[in-house]
Amino acid sequence: MIAAALAVAFAVAQLKPVGLTNPPSNGELSAPSEVNAILRRSCYDCHSNQTRWPWYSHVAPSSWMVLHDVERGRKEVNFSQWGGYYPRTRQRKLEWMRRALEDRVMPPESYTLMHPGARLSADDRARLQRWIETALTGNANGQSQ
Ligand code: HEC
Repeated sequence: MIAAALAVAFAVAQLKPVGLTNPPSNGELSAPSEVNAILRRSCYDCHSNQTRWPWYSHVAPSSWMVLHDVERGRKEVNFSQWGGYYPRTRQRKLEWMRRALEDRVMPPESYTLMHPGARLSADDRARLQRWIETALTGNANGQSQ
């Protein structure tokens, strides 16, 4: 009885449309290629319009959680809109990134459990931090060209 009720609830949950979209880029970040590779591997799923939606993002209820993360992540920092930010905004987001890296809160633990390859090595961290420092002192704020 409970199993049947759960099966129905599960089936009904699938009916709620989930807006998994990758809108076009509006000023994709252009960073040195090693930096780009790290960001794409560890951050892009939630902080860009190039999300690789995992299989569990197509199944409720995990789909709602993934979508929620991506929506909040994109709102905070979106590397696909980097060039469209005001320089002052880019600077602020770089400062947040520096802090998030220092505090080791990004990428979130819940994500690296499912995507162990996204964990940042000490080298990755150091490379990102060097890029952030350089970008903060430059005029283009991490947007070369
Ligand atoms: C699983 C999705 C996910 C991944 C992967 C991810 N983030 Fe986030 N990130 C979020 C969410 C959700 C928020 C907003 C809520 C919060 O602050 O926890 C956020 C917030 C942020 C913020 C904003 C301010 C702050 O400090 O809270 C920064 C900066 C950030 N992330 C940087 C990164 C970087 C850099 C990476 C890669 C190394 C990364 N994130 C990977 C989901 C993600």
